[in-house]
Amino acid sequence: MTRPRVLVARAVFPEVVARLREHFDVEDNPSDIIYTPAELIARLQGKQGALTTGSERIGADLLAACPELRVVANMAVGYNNFDIAACNAAGVLATNTPDVLTETTADFGFALMMATARRMAESERFLRRGEWTRWAYDMFTGSDVHGAALGILGMGRIGQAIARRGALGFGMQVSYHNRSRLPAETEAELGARYVSKAELLAQADHLLLVLPYSADSHHAIGAAELAQMKPTATLTNIARGGIVDDAALAAALRAGRIAAAGLDVFEGEPAVHPDLLTLPNVVLTPHIASASLATRRAMAKLAADNLIAALTGGVAPTPINAAALLRPS
Ligand code: GLV
Repeated sequence: MTRPRVLVARAVFPEVVARLREHFDVEDNPSDIIYTPAELIARLQGKQGALTTGSERIGADLLAACPELRVVANMAVGYNNFDIAACNAAGVLATNTPDVLTETTADFGFALMMATARRMAESERFLRRGEWTRWAYDMFTGSDVHGAALGILGMGRIGQAIARRGALGFGMQVSYHNRSRLPAETEAELGARYVSKAELLAQADHLLLVLPYSADSHHAIGAAELAQMKPTATLTNIARGGIVDDAALAAALRAGRIAAAGLDVFEGEPAVHPDLLTLPNVVLTPHIASASLATRRAMAKLAADNLIAALTGGVAPTPINAAALLRPS
């Protein structure tokens, strides 16, 4: 029997590629070129599996052009780069990497919120410019995190891990809004109160976005929503670019409509809205919320586990659409 063939679309830990080679004929990408859609289709010819990242779009056109493809394993928890309906129609299993990144990503969300509230990036730039010549009573005064009102939009695993940090570690009053409300026991355990989106916007001292990107969440935070927030509030986005209207956010930050923002994700990243780059009151990081070394290793391993199980007769540990594929069409 011929070995399945897989594409590892971006550079990844060598030991993960070595493990995949124990099972498959592997084409990898150690020079880490980002393939154009046409190159990706060309490289997927004759391949049954692909290990992908957010930079590879798996849509209906690609699936139609790659009829041998059976599994796409994303090295990310978010999978807005996959058209799941098209995967279902093509009978392609899609997998992601939940759970292994929850705590690491929550740590980063909390850190970015704190850096934003306490003006860490802005004050560090000031110091590096050599402008720190004396103490002043109001130098870089920010807003407190402990005891403040934490608002979480999107209350999945990462949102819940952030809620725990806020309520238990920092004595924050935690409110959240989500498509579905959590069970009462979970709310009690997290110390989190369910509110409408309007209430969340109006009440939060620090608003964190942790919801998946979809057509429904596109520009969930735009000019109208920013106008409902407190002028002293901060906004932190560790979810996906496109959930925030970056041009509207830049305008709000410039006008002092809200105090500050922390952004790890951007519309059209790696491009960043030029206005954001010029503003002092925004902390900018390059989509690294899950990037501890241990967690990135765990994500790569889980993506490989999914590919190996799915292409060797096993059960993929973290499927996205297994149920849809089992359903008779
Ligand atoms: C990162 O953004 C992820 O979805 O894992």
